[in-house]
Amino acid sequence: MLANIPATQTVIEIRQSGGPDVLVPATRPVPEPKAGEVLIRIAAAGVNRADCLQRMGRYPMPPGAPDIPGLECSGTIVKCGDGVTQWKDGDEICALMIGDGYGEYAAVPAVQCLPVPPSVSLVDAGGLPETFCTVWTNVFERIHLKAGETFLMQGGTSGIGMTAIQLAKAFGAKVLATAGSDEKCQACRDYGADVAINYHTQDFVAVGKQFTGGRGVDAIFDMVGGDYIPRQIELLAHEGRLCFVALMRGAKVEADFGAVQRKHLTITGSTLRSRSVEQKAAIIAALREKVWPLWNSGKLRTFTYRQYPLAKASEAHRLMESSQHIGKILLVP
Ligand SMILES: NC(=O)c1ccc[n+]([C@@H]2O[C@H](COP(=O)([O-])OP(=O)(O)OC[C@H]3O[C@@H](n4cnc5c(N)ncnc54)[C@H](OP(=O)(O)O)[C@@H]3O)[C@@H](O)[C@H]2O)c1
Repeated sequence: MLANIPATQTVIEIRQSGGPDVLVPATRPVPEPKAGEVLIRIAAAGVNRADCLQRMGRYPMPPGAPDIPGLECSGTIVKCGDGVTQWKDGDEICALMIGDGYGEYAAVPAVQCLPVPPSVSLVDAGGLPETFCTVWTNVFERIHLKAGETFLMQGGTSGIGMTAIQLAKAFGAKVLATAGSDEKCQACRDYGADVAINYHTQDFVAVGKQFTGGRGVDAIFDMVGGDYIPRQIELLAHEGRLCFVALMRGAKVEADFGAVQRKHLTITGSTLRSRSVEQKAAIIAALREKVWPLWNSGKLRTFTYRQYPLAKASEAHRLMESSQHIGKILLVP
């Protein structure tokens, strides 16, 4: 155990459901790591859209999730619970969490931690676990994107989008990405997209068809839903796959399922937070083996947009809800 673990810490509580101002600093005990857990002194926590929904009381919380938001962090291990053999005090890690990231200390299952890649700062690493786990398990394990295929990322400058663009390129796919401004489109190209589509001025179906010579794209990763759904079914090639991680524009639409049958399409989706520790551990292990070596080969870059002190969590949420950001927003205790 490293010295100087205080008895209490500052966390950010959700005082009541509502706007960003309901996020307030509070004092809570520093937790004891249980068997199989490590206690992390947090260097940075990633802000995710799900945190905004939780704050508004619109997120279906999985059983066992704490009330303190925060789905990922980076930091230093200061104490290991019984049975933890893979980490030791002083190790710098980043971790996928079910909550509790908006604090100074958190106890996390050891199997949900990854080493901070050598080319990444300890603070920037706090924005990696949630997006990398989400992209890996959906784009590569669920809809099986393969080298040579054409991939469309909707919402290219979200944290999820900037991760997916880079991983799809690193694994040999051709990448199209949509975004809501020319500046965001430039960021998509900077991070590797072959084609960026400003959805305010261009039709992603027309661009996707043109790019593929009329064939359509092989895989689409979507967080928008709503009126995008029938258009995505239209754009998919034979044997195409469509995967949702959010439906920000709505979950109920009229769509031509005859095309799903005719074109042998697969439509799927998933949530990460509700999965068991064992399932999260399997994703983390796959990332460590298949993705983390890419940091050393220079194929991946971090994408921190802005850092806020932990006490300014409400400002961080305001920025996220403005959708002006490009990449990750971090909270630094
Ligand atoms: N299911 C899961 O396991 C899982 C895991 C992680 C995240 N997610 C979801 O994935 C999405 C992205 O997460 P994130 O944290 O990376 O979010 P984020 O950085 O805030 O990105 C969301 C982006 O989507 C774009 N967008 C398109 N349509 C939108 C609309 N109707 N309302 C708001 N934004 C819209 C915005 O950029 P433009 O200006 O380009 O429109 C915005 O920047 C979120 O919805 C999140 O809840 C799901």
